[in-house]
Amino acid sequence: LRLPRFYHERVVDHYNNPRNVGSFDKNDPSVGTGLVGAPACGDVMKLQIKIDEETGKIIDACFKTFGCGSAIASSSVATEWVKGKQMEEVLTIKNTEIAKHLSLPPVKLHCSMLAEDAIKAAVKDYESKRAKSGAHTESTT
Ligand code: FES
Ligand code: FES
Repeated sequence: LRLPRFYHERVVDHYNNPRNVGSFDKNDPSVGTGLVGAPACGDVMKLQIKIDEETGKIIDACFKTFGCGSAIASSSVATEWVKGKQMEEVLTIKNTEIAKHLSLPPVKLHCSMLAEDAIKAAVKDYESKRAKSGAHTESTT
């Protein structure tokens, strides 16, 4: 598949060989799922993280993106960047850093925004699941 010339080679690389495409079981208690959509174009990104519950470290990540090449490349980069990091750490990843890494043109900034939002949503999902399961064990007896 060919992309227009103005795309940086890193976009093309991540688009042609996206890293970490796939899905984890969203009901797995150690998994956080972030599902976000871009209002500007209707594209959708799902990014999932797997957390080591003892250390709070992200040990694995994967994504599925129904979107443009920049969104696919952004999610691929995002999964690479979150692996091995603490949850609080990945909350500071900015879409502008992803866009810069991929040299995205300004019209494609919203595509990298999807990745930032998806990371945040995945962490939030994991945390709310944990809070819920805590409440659940207390109330079942
Ligand atoms: Fe893939 Fe940098 S080129 S994360
Ligand atoms: Fe919609 Fe890129 S054009 S995510």
